Amino acid sequence: MRFDAALKGRSTDQTLTRGREPKGSLYPGGNIMIDLSTNYLGLKLKNPIVASASPLTEKLENFARLEEAGAAAIVMHSLMEEQIEAESENIDNALEFGANSYAEATSYLPDMQKYHIGPERYLELLHKGKQSVNIPVIASLNGRSPGGWVRYAELMEEAGADALELNIFDIPTDTALSADELETRYCNLVRAIRKSVRVPIAVKLGPYFTSFANFARKLAESGADGVVIFNRFYQPDFDLEEMEVTPNLVLSSPHELRLRLHWAAILYHQVECYIAITGGVHDASDVLKCMMAGAHVSMMTSALLKYGIEHIGVVLAGIETWMEEHEYVSIRQMRGSMSLVNIEEPTAFLRGNYLKTLGSYTWREGGAALTTF
Ligand SMILES: Cc1cc2nc3c(=O)[nH]c(=O)nc-3n(C[C@H](O)[C@H](O)[C@H](O)COP(=O)(O)O)c2cc1C
Repeated sequence: MRFDAALKGRSTDQTLTRGREPKGSLYPGGNIMIDLSTNYLGLKLKNPIVASASPLTEKLENFARLEEAGAAAIVMHSLMEEQIEAESENIDNALEFGANSYAEATSYLPDMQKYHIGPERYLELLHKGKQSVNIPVIASLNGRSPGGWVRYAELMEEAGADALELNIFDIPTDTALSADELETRYCNLVRAIRKSVRVPIAVKLGPYFTSFANFARKLAESGADGVVIFNRFYQPDFDLEEMEVTPNLVLSSPHELRLRLHWAAILYHQVECYIAITGGVHDASDVLKCMMAGAHVSMMTSALLKYGIEHIGVVLAGIETWMEEHEYVSIRQMRGSMSLVNIEEPTAFLRGNYLKTLGSYTWREGGAALTTF
């Protein structure tokens, strides 16, 4: 396990309590050198902002632009299981779910050869992208079944990936498939990849697991070094004129962060793995919240697509300003301070929050609702 033991012990983070270090005491002259560094998957990062998987990495020049803007690491867009299978033309054997389900699916899928870029070009881009920057580059594999595509993990490692992000995206619709079977299948997938590569592996997941904390632990025990929480579920829409189910991609909004903060705060110190938050990180306060919940890094896509790559610099400046104003000297100092194990009232993450939130709502007939926090 590559988990940094020093970050694990509750006392390590707690010995430095928030805001206790008087300004200027560490650096005579009044200037505080703020340390934004963090550790993710055993990789030393200069700050906690990671560019998450997105079309930005489809262009080689964007690797350097992301580094220049301040990103501490880059996750490449995913190589999809379907892309690899389309290339190998060995669909029937590679998919444990059978050829028929795939034949049905392919009529809806985009032409996989043209989707993003094929496996060969992906590896080439990874290699060149890695050479063009000094920050870690994490390659992403996206699929659901343990097929021949797992060998691409090895090829990604050979091409220079510093780590792998395994995006498990699946919609289980089989009423005969139990949660336990499904989770075992995912853990086996992680085990298979763990066996074939030496670089760290993070698993990117959706939030829809019955007992998420337990599942995260099982993934860590199966060889995952980190969890990336959470995939966004792009719920399809209905086109009432065409009578079609249509894809509908809406970029995230900051309120989506709360689900991630909640689970990072629960996993912190309970599961021995690194935690990355993806989904709803848009500004400096979002990153600070992620750290306080217990995440090691915060990832950004929507905000970069919306405001541009240079937005990373704005967020970093905002983090430093906030830390200076609130007399924090390092990210390490704040990490996990608002987690379930460290918060004074743990029930804030449990049923207590549910009861308090519902109880805080005041309904006024004909008028706007007031909240009384
Ligand atoms: C246009 C677009 C393309 C994306 N492509 C990928 C991808 O290839 N692989 C992946 O794991 N996530 C992909 N994502 C998801 C992002 O990495 C990220 O997890 C998600 O957008 C939530 O973060 P955000 O709120 O910062 O956008 C994509 C997101 C967008 C908007």
